[in-house]
Amino acid sequence: MKIKKLFLQNFRNYENEIFTFSEGLNVLFGKNGQGKTNCAEAVFYLCTGASLRIRHDKQLIRIGAESARIVAEAENRYGNVTIEADIYENKREIRVNGSKIAKNADLMGHINSVFFSPGELRLIQDGPDERRRFMNISISQTSPAYYTALLRYNKILDQRNTLLKNRDVSLVLDTLPVWDEQLCKYAAIIVQKRAEFVEKLAPHAKEFHSFLTDGKEDLVIKPDRKYEGSAEEIAKTLQRRLENNYEKDLRLGFTTVGPHRDDLDVLIGGVDAKAYASQGQTRTAALALKLSEVQIFKILSGEYPILVLDDVMSELDLPRRKKLLKCIADVQTILTCTHAERVLYGAECNKIRIEDGKIKN
Ligand SMILES: Nc1ncnc2c1ncn2[C@@H]1O[C@H](COP(=O)(O)OP(=O)(O)OP(=O)(O)O)[C@@H](O)[C@H]1O
Ligand SMILES: [Mg+2]
Repeated sequence: MKIKKLFLQNFRNYENEIFTFSEGLNVLFGKNGQGKTNCAEAVFYLCTGASLRIRHDKQLIRIGAESARIVAEAENRYGNVTIEADIYENKREIRVNGSKIAKNADLMGHINSVFFSPGELRLIQDGPDERRRFMNISISQTSPAYYTALLRYNKILDQRNTLLKNRDVSLVLDTLPVWDEQLCKYAAIIVQKRAEFVEKLAPHAKEFHSFLTDGKEDLVIKPDRKYEGSAEEIAKTLQRRLENNYEKDLRLGFTTVGPHRDDLDVLIGGVDAKAYASQGQTRTAALALKLSEVQIFKILSGEYPILVLDDVMSELDLPRRKKLLKCIADVQTILTCTHAERVLYGAECNKIRIEDGKIKN
């Protein structure tokens, strides 16, 4: 997949700008606060229908303007694809090749992207939320079924949690099984897709990690909880676990088991990286995971995603920067940094200087 042009109108600090990207490495550079991340955010938004940084689209609209518009002209293996997003204060409209899409799931997969910022470098050392988010964003882009199951699961989970706060215990106990049956149906899909994803990811992560550490370290990733059997069997197992935790859930007022609490196990040299690895080691492992994610997209969709590296280079040491550039040579990349020369080492690229929401060449 390639993004050829990106139009930004009243988006964040951009009034009206057109970016033209090359097929290889594109470097957006400029001082702090000029709009580099904003541009990266627009690309991610057109791929996923969501922003990484915010919950409310309203913040995407340039202050003082009524609406924002982002358009990408891209190409995937089926041909040209144009994605347009019009963002208003209380609604938004997204079109794919001119047709309005009814739900976000229909946007996923037209252009895939892997987004990588310093936050993702903390993927291993941060809490399980980040690792679940990594899986959710990644799997959703290649599996609409996963995305839909996740949305439904989260909705039922919210309702279940509200119910758990009700003081009428007999009403709660009567109603819980009804919610749980639905919840477990979607949970089973989530659990199975995550297991498939991690199984595919693991050998690549191991290989990248070995490359990044010159073969000195061994990385293993696996789901922290093993679920056996078919989707129905997984749903049944989960239902039993939920039942066993009724008392605890009632006491705490929220649901304590289920895929919204599951995690990934990350082992470096056979030892739990979350507990024992150094900061540098966890960063390298996170980099290996993200690079594997790029490969998985290629395997699942037949083509590389667009890689967005927002401010990542400054967080890596020199050998890792060089290795990263080597690993992404075949992938269209949008990279942001403050000083292009310090991260590129003469690599061929399309340099775009950003100043105060404008392209200055
Ligand atoms: N809705 C908005 N309307 C107008 N300006 C906005 C809006 N949202 C953000 N900005 C401005 O965008 C700028 C930040 O842009 P961005 O995060 O892209 O910077 P950056 O170039 O990535 O900087 P850094 O190098 O520090 O990461 C800030 O000056 C901020 O005030
Ligand atoms: Mg930035």
